[in-house]
Amino acid sequence: MIKIIYESKTGHTLEYAKILSQKLHLPYYSIKEAKNKVNENDKIVFLSWICASKIKEKDKIDKKYNVLCYGAVGAYPYSDKYLKELKINNKIDKPFFYLRGGLDYSKLNLPKKILVKLVGITMKNKDSKTKEMFKKGYNFVSLENLEEIIKFMQIKHI
Ligand SMILES: Cc1cc2nc3c(=O)[nH]c(=O)nc-3n(C[C@H](O)[C@H](O)[C@H](O)COP(=O)(O)O)c2cc1C
Repeated sequence: MIKIIYESKTGHTLEYAKILSQKLHLPYYSIKEAKNKVNENDKIVFLSWICASKIKEKDKIDKKYNVLCYGAVGAYPYSDKYLKELKINNKIDKPFFYLRGGLDYSKLNLPKKILVKLVGITMKNKDSKTKEMFKKGYNFVSLENLEEIIKFMQIKHI
């Protein structure tokens, strides 16, 4: 059976997992829940957030499960260049989708808040929404951002 496993720190990836689950009629589980609910015969859509260009828990999931595709949730705006970088940094050899999450400062501890703010200050060529996101936080989660992964799953696997 096809199942969604997600890893989320501040909630954006969980939101995407819920929407995708609804649209594709697939169950979704955190990594902890997956221990009892997912086995090696299942096929996995793995959604996780990006921390310093790395997809959290990817290695752990790759070792344990049969992954069909990855959805990586980050705060930066989408670009082909960024997608390529992520693929290289994370050794992606399967279908890969970037899903813009956002920033929720209320759920970050002080050192992480400072780190993210510094990244925001040093980042060049920010559009106005991205500027606002780094200043106050912003949530970009939308069904539209999931369109590609939904299409891929419907055509190839469901
Ligand atoms: C310490 C830290 C490092 C981050 N590094 C990146 C990054 O390299 N690229 C990116 O696009 N977003 C980065 N982000 C932003 C998160 O990926 C973003 O907030 C995402 O929506 C978090 O998903 P979640 O709410 O499911 O935890 C970083 C956030 C934190 C706190």
